[in-house]
Amino acid sequence: MEKIQIRRMLLVLALISLLTALGVVIWLLLRGPDQPGSPGPPAPAPRAGQLKIPPLLEDLDPDPGVARYILEAEAGETDFFQERATGTLGYNGSYLGPVLKMRQGERVNIEVRNKLDDPTTIHWHGLVVDGSEDGGPHQGIGPGESWNPSFTVDQPAATLWFHPHLMGTTADQVYYGLAGLIYIEDEVSDRLALPKTYGVDDIPLIVQDRRFRSNGSFDYQTTMMGVVPGDTILVNGTVDPSVMVARGNIRFRLLNASNSENFTFRLSDGSLFQQIASDGGFLAAPVIRQTIFLSPGERAEVVIDFSDTSTDNVFLLAGSREILKIELTGQPQATAGLPQVLREITPIEESPDPPVRYFELQSMGISGTINRKYFDMERIDERVRLNETELWVIRTTGGMMMQSGGHPFHVHGTQFQVVARNGRTPPPGELGFKDTVFVDEGEEVVIRVRFTHPGVFMYHCHILEHEDNGMMGQFSVR
Ligand code: C2O
Ligand code: CU
Ligand code: CU
Repeated sequence: MEKIQIRRMLLVLALISLLTALGVVIWLLLRGPDQPGSPGPPAPAPRAGQLKIPPLLEDLDPDPGVARYILEAEAGETDFFQERATGTLGYNGSYLGPVLKMRQGERVNIEVRNKLDDPTTIHWHGLVVDGSEDGGPHQGIGPGESWNPSFTVDQPAATLWFHPHLMGTTADQVYYGLAGLIYIEDEVSDRLALPKTYGVDDIPLIVQDRRFRSNGSFDYQTTMMGVVPGDTILVNGTVDPSVMVARGNIRFRLLNASNSENFTFRLSDGSLFQQIASDGGFLAAPVIRQTIFLSPGERAEVVIDFSDTSTDNVFLLAGSREILKIELTGQPQATAGLPQVLREITPIEESPDPPVRYFELQSMGISGTINRKYFDMERIDERVRLNETELWVIRTTGGMMMQSGGHPFHVHGTQFQVVARNGRTPPPGELGFKDTVFVDEGEEVVIRVRFTHPGVFMYHCHILEHEDNGMMGQFSVR
């Protein structure tokens, strides 16, 4: 047992040094002659198609119980293609942002600086914090201004994300690149024998569809009928990505960060996913799945066992679309099975006579309503009591658009549980904690929800154009 672990570690180390050496060689080849007067060598250009791995943001607070992060929203240019730069937005970089690592129980202070020419906000999607720290449309940050949210992490290990949330410009700002990941870890994730070497066998996959013009600029189009789907897939901001991994257990943290596209992921060789987590963290036990469906905003963590894979390449697909080329290297590694118990899922406490609220989602092209109302910043739609369990019934009626007709319903300030889908127990992959649930046309989904933090929060469709154009409501928790 120990020998296998040491061998595995050595293999990983060898792989890391190999990749580093490879990176240096490529960098030497690509950087060209030094430019006189430039301050040091430019950052190495990634090999065309090599999956970019977002950097882990440095915690500036030496106290292990406190984290301090600085995020700067800025405009820049990104080389998705050779010799055609794309005007983009990013956090601490030109496209997307770094990963913010947090621990359960930790105090986190973040300074968000807006270096854009436009106002923005930054919302921590899936994080359970007070309304004032949530970063919704009420917490606008003007150009040149900063915002300093502060909170204690009050939830278990999970993969969350962040993105702007200003009324009317969310879709645009996300499309141009403003989004990033949050990793929460805890004692359970520390203890579980799962792949956890960042970027090596624990790999984030931020999946987005985009359109480009021939000059390289984004071609973001919406019409009366909806959002024009992208013809190009970006994963972590990489076009045509490939990633090299060992023939062992590999964990992928999937986020659908598209504005409006749904994805049904599968593997080209028929390999199975072992889903270990949903939006709010670990499932009770791994769930074996052939496909993973994610609507915008949803996450899933999966482990794929490549130890028996005989081919050199496996493709992550969505329908017939190629999402990621997975290049397998080295000898097959003996993989231990995954832990059969991941965590104990304590159901949200039921109350005998819970308040029931109904939400009817209806869209028309890129706009839509909830309970036949367009979003109004001045109106509180629902008043919820702190720490009281409720049932929310979400229905999708009608809709005419290019998209599927279904809507990803997202609730801020909580992780909820899905109790019924069309009157039945939801599938096992939906039995963990969630913050976004897809409600297809004609469907009815019931969630059990409880709010433990006060403030004003949003619920909305996570098709960002719907959110920007009316399909959002707000509730107060007191
Ligand atoms: Cu991911 Cu209200 O947002
Ligand atoms: Cu959110
Ligand atoms: Cu919608």
